[in-house]
Amino acid sequence: MPNSNDSKLPPYFGINPEEAGKRLGDPIDTARFAKAASFAARGREELAKSGHAPDGKKRLRKFSTWEVCKYLIPVAPAHFRRVLKARPELPQGTGDGISKWYSLEDVIALRQHFASEGAANREYLPYRPEGVRAKVVAVANFKGGVGKTSTCAHLAMSAALDGYKVLAIDLDSQGSLTSILGGQIKDEWDTSFPIIAGDFARHLQSENKVRMAGGQEPFPMDETLTESLEVSPRNLIQSTHWPNIDLLGSQLNLYWAEFQIPVWRMQSGSWPLWDALLNGLENGGILDEYDIVLLDTPPALGYLTINALSAADILLVPLGASFLEFDSTGRFFDMLYSTFASIEEGENAQLRYRGLPEMRFEWDAVRTIITRFDAAQQTDLANVIQAYFGDLMTTFRQDVTAMVGQAGEQVNGIYEADYREFNRDTYVRGREAFDRTWAEIKELIIGSWWRDLQMGIDAQSDDEGDADGTS
Ligand SMILES: Nc1ncnc2c1ncn2[C@@H]1O[C@H](COP(=O)(O)OP(=O)(O)O)[C@@H](O)[C@H]1O
Ligand SMILES: [Mg+2]
Repeated sequence: MPNSNDSKLPPYFGINPEEAGKRLGDPIDTARFAKAASFAARGREELAKSGHAPDGKKRLRKFSTWEVCKYLIPVAPAHFRRVLKARPELPQGTGDGISKWYSLEDVIALRQHFASEGAANREYLPYRPEGVRAKVVAVANFKGGVGKTSTCAHLAMSAALDGYKVLAIDLDSQGSLTSILGGQIKDEWDTSFPIIAGDFARHLQSENKVRMAGGQEPFPMDETLTESLEVSPRNLIQSTHWPNIDLLGSQLNLYWAEFQIPVWRMQSGSWPLWDALLNGLENGGILDEYDIVLLDTPPALGYLTINALSAADILLVPLGASFLEFDSTGRFFDMLYSTFASIEEGENAQLRYRGLPEMRFEWDAVRTIITRFDAAQQTDLANVIQAYFGDLMTTFRQDVTAMVGQAGEQVNGIYEADYREFNRDTYVRGREAFDRTWAEIKELIIGSWWRDLQMGIDAQSDDEGDADGTS
């Protein structure tokens, strides 16, 4: 720029050190953070009072006849209307036009009706064998912003629309999944924290029995541990505005678990810290009460993520079709390998020493899934990524859709958005992105339930001496 004078210089030139020093204010000590927090809390209250914050109560919208017949219950609209007319005791929907609107509770009741009285060859109820526990699906990647929470929330909603009973567990202390599901979390005692603490407390109790029998001092139980023994996982779970999605939520304080877990492990090196969450869910009977449990995880391979992965039957790793996300996802697998292999090694050394059978981690399925996919820009890179991940990758790529952006700002899922607010093309394509994600994951879930049953049945027929060698 020729002959530039001072007024045309960029703003970072010409800063006077003395003036800057005087404007700086006093050095900040930690107490100032407390002051900022308390100011923010007061401001938050003000804003909430003046209507800037949501009232915290979310309501699920209703679903139109068109939507019910197209997406939820596979019947023709004309037949649907005939059945409803003939059966005044069934939910009739609300609204004056030809299109009636139904709550999800209505849809669930109607689906039950069609399942019991409709055509036998139609799939009114999703496959869910009896006598097998919920499938646990964890969504993880140590990179942030790859679509973990969106994928998790949409999977929860599509599974619920499909008729499954879903538990969503938020392990990210940022609590995004919790706010999408309208959860109200006071502190860490409303999160998974007491489940993990309780598992350690029980471990310590049994270890103390052994110590005392051997004449050793028992380890002390602090207040947190004692209190955690009183907590039942059932009481941590809250219902949401979705009749068949429950939530075990999260809040900033859950992050404390990342500091506390290694301290506990130091105290008792025999505590299998990776099993704490699964133990709690199993012992609390939670896995028998749901069809699908979805775990959203923080963007780190910390102790909470390790618990999620170890509890999971199915692991989903979302990533965008970019070099950076591909690279870091590769490293994530490397870290998964070293973390879980070192747990196996440590455990198996112990187990061998005690003459017990060895353990190993096993997942029904692990899939990487490309999210926020832009076919015009990213097809080549996605193909390369696909080639390297091979059968570890879903065939479907979850398209980027304006609906998530828009819905994301109001922290809604696309299934919660009213289709009349969108251009039809945007709606159909946006919805399809998540419907097809669900279809792929549903196939994994159904397939692994089926395989569980086969293995159970095989074990039985082996007992009966059926040894024809086929399986
Ligand atoms: N299919 C999609 N289309 C458009 N935007 C998306 C899609 N999936 C996720 N996003 C957006 O990408 C951002 C990161 O997604 P998020 O699920 O929060 O990632 P993570 O949980 O991995 O940090 C969010 O702003 C979200 O709205
Ligand atoms: Mg997230």
